Amino acid sequence: METRETKPVIFLFTFPLQGHLNPMFQLANIFFNKGFSITVIHTEFNSPNFSNFPHFTFVSIPDGLSEPESYPDVIEILHDLNSKCVAPFGDCLKKLISEEPTAACLIVDALWYFTHDLTDKFDIPRIVLRTVNLSAFVAFSKFHVLREKGYLSLQETQADSLVPELPYLRMKDLPWFQTEDPRSGDKLQRGVMKSLKSSSGIIFNAIEDLESDQLDQALIEFPVPLFCIGPFHRYVSASSSSLLAHDMTCLSWLDKQETNSVIYASLGSIASINESELLEIAWGLRNSNQPFLWVVRPGLIHGKEWIEILPKGFIENLKGRGKIVKWAPQPEVLAHRATGGFLTHCGWNSTLEGICEAIPMICKPSFGDQRVNARYITDVWKIGLHLENKIERTKIESAVRTLMTTSEGEEIRKRIMPMKEIAEQCLKMGGSSYRNLENLIAYILSF
Ligand code: UDX
Repeated sequence: METRETKPVIFLFTFPLQGHLNPMFQLANIFFNKGFSITVIHTEFNSPNFSNFPHFTFVSIPDGLSEPESYPDVIEILHDLNSKCVAPFGDCLKKLISEEPTAACLIVDALWYFTHDLTDKFDIPRIVLRTVNLSAFVAFSKFHVLREKGYLSLQETQADSLVPELPYLRMKDLPWFQTEDPRSGDKLQRGVMKSLKSSSGIIFNAIEDLESDQLDQALIEFPVPLFCIGPFHRYVSASSSSLLAHDMTCLSWLDKQETNSVIYASLGSIASINESELLEIAWGLRNSNQPFLWVVRPGLIHGKEWIEILPKGFIENLKGRGKIVKWAPQPEVLAHRATGGFLTHCGWNSTLEGICEAIPMICKPSFGDQRVNARYITDVWKIGLHLENKIERTKIESAVRTLMTTSEGEEIRKRIMPMKEIAEQCLKMGGSSYRNLENLIAYILSF
């Protein structure tokens, strides 16, 4: 048997946000199962729970981050991490490489854009994990052209006009980030593009059979090998990289509900809403008369602890027909026979988890790639309904009823079944992700 000393070692540099930690740890498990040793380099901020991964080696670097609440938006946190981690990460990598004779490569999250010149400095191949899908990736890659053409300002005035350069997308779907300083979003895009283009390859938690046109587009824009090997979470049984504790009572509550009856609602790990939007969602779900399981993450509502602003008696009056939790075991919830619909912010992990369980969606995207995903879900794949524009209780109520109780909802449900099938087949021998993973491993071992 190979020992740690003889196995090729992959260093992974995780980005400390939930939607980035999950796919990176899933990827780490995939490589571990293929015979690699794994060393995870992580920040102190949002540090992972080591006890869930006893088979990995962990190395922590100081990030010097101030209180996360003191930043105007998440993009400023990204920039600060990218400047404060340069020296500690460099020192850490230098030491690891000098101690590890079988170092194979470094895999970094795309948001660590400062790592773009490390290959030259340390003479180790650097592969990038991009956690978005190919459609969003292509949209991001055209960012500067679209900016120069003035499309950012058209987002308000011609929100519903189609974007000539990106089939299917409307001006309002373009993945800009709303930042206090508009230069901050541009800096992020520029940094990520530079880092991707100078990498030895890019890995996607995506399925090329679902996005073959976008793969062709991406190959034109990017002169490096691209590997679509998703869906990651289907390779190995999950060890949790969750930063929040899962409320497992969700599952016993679901056990008591009828098959395909529950609408599961979650807006992911970063998006936030205001008080009135919370109330609109609450009444929309309640008035739909459909059982619902709703994740209200602490921090979801600006300036509030949790759901204290819901009217007195709101929960009691549901009489068990609705359940609100702080964080759910999402993949298990989506896989439960009682879950029949997903009101989602359309983060790519959530979207892919939904597709793998054939759960039709109601889209309420917030920022970045979520808008692109929402458009694909509703207009291209036609596996969901879009809550365009403002959050309003009547629209939520009507979308839930349509999805869960009408023939239109039934058609949507039927359309998602072949996508689930594709997500299963691509991992089997000869399938696209299976082949791409074999190619990726051969590529890493050839360095
Ligand atoms: C953002 C982006 O929108 C996404 O596309 C990008 O790739 C990562 O950052 P985020 O808000 O974190 O995403 O959403 P998503 O990508 O859906 O990831 C959330 C993860 O948290 C999922 O894996 C989901 O299973 C998990 N989750 C969510 C839980 O475990 N419990 C919950 O209650 C909600």
